[in-house]
Amino acid sequence: MTARPKILVTSAAGKTGLPTALQLLEKGFPVRAFVRSDDARAARLRGAGAEIFIGNQYALSHMRRAMQGIRRAYHCPPTAPNGLHFSAVFAVAAHDARLEHVVTLGQWLSSVDHPSLFTREVHVSERLLDALPDTTHTIVNPGWFADNYLMVLPLAAQLGILAMPLGDGSVKKNAPPANEDIASVAAEALADPAQHAGQTYRPTGPELLSPDEIAVAFSKGLKRSVRYMAMSERMFLKAMKAVPPPNYSDAALTQLRLYAEEYRRGTFAVNAPTDVVRAIGGREPERMDSIVRRAAQAADVRQSLGRQLGALSDLVRIALTKAPDPSRISTAKDHVELSEPVFAQDCNAWRDSHENDRECNRIRRIA
Ligand SMILES: NC(=O)c1ccc[n+]([C@@H]2O[C@H](COP(=O)([O-])OP(=O)(O)OC[C@H]3O[C@@H](n4cnc5c(N)ncnc54)[C@H](OP(=O)(O)O)[C@@H]3O)[C@@H](O)[C@H]2O)c1
Repeated sequence: MTARPKILVTSAAGKTGLPTALQLLEKGFPVRAFVRSDDARAARLRGAGAEIFIGNQYALSHMRRAMQGIRRAYHCPPTAPNGLHFSAVFAVAAHDARLEHVVTLGQWLSSVDHPSLFTREVHVSERLLDALPDTTHTIVNPGWFADNYLMVLPLAAQLGILAMPLGDGSVKKNAPPANEDIASVAAEALADPAQHAGQTYRPTGPELLSPDEIAVAFSKGLKRSVRYMAMSERMFLKAMKAVPPPNYSDAALTQLRLYAEEYRRGTFAVNAPTDVVRAIGGREPERMDSIVRRAAQAADVRQSLGRQLGALSDLVRIALTKAPDPSRISTAKDHVELSEPVFAQDCNAWRDSHENDRECNRIRRIA
């Protein structure tokens, strides 16, 4: 029997990188895990059998070293400024190492003239990796992760409020996938390139849910009553500034409001749910209440007076925070802007490849 090739997993301490690395190890593949620092997450990967590579994904010299002796890789650009730089560095190193197969974490919104700079960068990255002459490519193309709702888990657990800018609470707008389910699709595509080369897969959760139903899932997962509260975009920006999720830069904040706008427009509901997690990942997609239950156990968000006071003080901090101005941030950061940006569902090429394909498990690439 031929030895299984070692697989490089970038962003291996991240939401999808960590479970991708762990699932590849479970399948019997040796894994090199590219992480930024030797912390508890690296220790967990090492304990599961991964080789740890500590480096900077912006540095071509690091990526070249990380790819030595590697034939396949998971490319997961972090949600950070200069995303195209991550991908260009990865593409050059993959080209020089003549990798056999790459799996990229893309985006359901990925389209040519999208208002989000990060999304346009994802789109260009996908095309860049498609063009590698010696390397086959699979794109895993999820929409809004289940994990995104967990940024309000402490508030929901203590005060029973799911406050997010998702519009009308009664409209079904997303079938949220668990990180581990997204990873199952990436791991399978890395394990068997011949089956998955050239494909684009969209993993989703098992059912399309409205914001009110997400709140019901929180109620079940937390064993307390949780109610959805529609937040204005201005209040959302204040909250992201006052209580930012870990690792979110000001630049990411300017993009998140555009993703929330796509959410309200119903773009994540298009052709959801899919059977990709079952068909490709080989597992039952996890329900939202189960995702919340696991997160609540991991974070220990049991109600207490101290935590309730902490949640209330967060609300006061949000109220007192000046609303950031996304346009000003983008200008200050020299973001490349388009004069006529086009949201996903307003883009003919996006609609043609995403809406009209009723199966939607295997989305055609758009130029
Ligand atoms: N969230 C969504 O709803 C959604 C939907 C569709 C697609 N996506 C895509 O998901 C991707 C992000 O994936 P993810 O959520 O799995 O990643 P993630 O959790 O953000 O993880 C990124 C990892 O990269 C590490 N990192 C950041 N900068 C680094 C650097 N310069 N060198 C080395 N490591 C670095 C971070 O390290 P530390 O943890 O040590 O800081 C982190 O562990 C983005 O490309 C986004 O477009 C997200």
